[in-house]
Amino acid sequence: MLTAANNETLTRVGPGTPMGGLLRRYWMPIAGASEFDANPVRPVRLCGEDLVLYKDLGGRYGLVGRHCPHRRADMSYGYVEDEGIRCSYHGWTYAASGRCIAQPYEDTTNPSARSRHGCDILAYPVRELAGLLWAYLGPAPAPELPIYEPFTWENGFREIVLAEAPCNWLQCQENSIDPVHFEWMHDNWTTRLQGQRGPYAPRHLKLKFEEFDHGLIYKRVREGMDETSDYWTVGRVALWPIGFFLGMHFEWRVPIDDVNTLSIAWFFMRVPKGREPYVQDSIPAWMSPIRDAQGRLITSHVINQDIVGWVGQGTIADRTKENLRSSDVGVGMMRKRFFDDLAAVADGRDPSAIIRDPAAARRVRLPNMMTGYCVDGVALADHDKHPLLKARLQGFRHHYGQPEHIRRAFERAMGIGAH
Ligand code: FES
Ligand SMILES: [Fe+2]
Repeated sequence: MLTAANNETLTRVGPGTPMGGLLRRYWMPIAGASEFDANPVRPVRLCGEDLVLYKDLGGRYGLVGRHCPHRRADMSYGYVEDEGIRCSYHGWTYAASGRCIAQPYEDTTNPSARSRHGCDILAYPVRELAGLLWAYLGPAPAPELPIYEPFTWENGFREIVLAEAPCNWLQCQENSIDPVHFEWMHDNWTTRLQGQRGPYAPRHLKLKFEEFDHGLIYKRVREGMDETSDYWTVGRVALWPIGFFLGMHFEWRVPIDDVNTLSIAWFFMRVPKGREPYVQDSIPAWMSPIRDAQGRLITSHVINQDIVGWVGQGTIADRTKENLRSSDVGVGMMRKRFFDDLAAVADGRDPSAIIRDPAAARRVRLPNMMTGYCVDGVALADHDKHPLLKARLQGFRHHYGQPEHIRRAFERAMGIGAH
């Protein structure tokens, strides 16, 4: 349980709020780079700020304020040039740094260096990594952008899936340190949604939560397992501060504002042994709908089920009314670490998991029970022996609505299906 004041502190992310100040100190993934091939300009809202993300004709990404400094026109209707983005109203143009680099009428009739004074647009740095676009909204100097080891894996089919959940980011992220929900929200609910009464999945018998440099780890023993299981010896990672790492995929819960969250996930599936080299030219990105035609939340896929959990807690979960028990020890640890990080920022120190050393950022290893499969691969015939690999070949079960052409590209990469 939290007091109303503490709940307020942890959930509000707008400019000038303590939590907004903390989260702005981390690079956040905000889009798939391939989304900008067809349409190079897009409005985005991040931590309560209205911005425009674009790719200019020179291939540079930029993230600028929504309104033009001239007379406030909407930059999401701007168009990109060789360098930067041009406002469609009177043609003023801005580089990715935010610098105003053209004022066509003034430049023609009244050229003066002074004319551009005070006309720069708000701008934030953007980087591309692993097919994702990452933004940094915090104070300079920006920390290193961590290159997590899975981003360096080869011979895999990768895809990026986005969805928007109409609720606060923190309840989404608390789901990253919640092992027991797998049993009920994914395993057993799926059984029931498929019309079967059972059998229900193995119960959780034992949990352990640990802290490490890059976040929190949870470990579990379920019926039919013992402490030699990877689920107990390795565990899974709530990646600091807004991520979740599950071995073959990452999920991030990016605050759009206090009441909306962008779920952005990055998936990797190693091609079967013998199908190397596999080189993917571009990482596809797609938007997954969260509601059906009746307006009900979609329940058929894993992250859609999570979204039912998140959204069901209310727009901003009222943590004065909850009853935490032993399954929720990790949730308490997560909240404490956020409060510790808020104190660090207030003291002028870096919060946890910030990397300043470029060498340390180059390959950030995370606990992962799937590394062997993802790096070395296994023969197609042996995928059946591993439940996670088997399920990935059968269909994309994480998000509803995978476009057919992406499924076909996946099947071609894996050497399955009628291709
Ligand atoms: S309002 Fe943008 S150029 Fe005039
Ligand atoms: Fe889940």
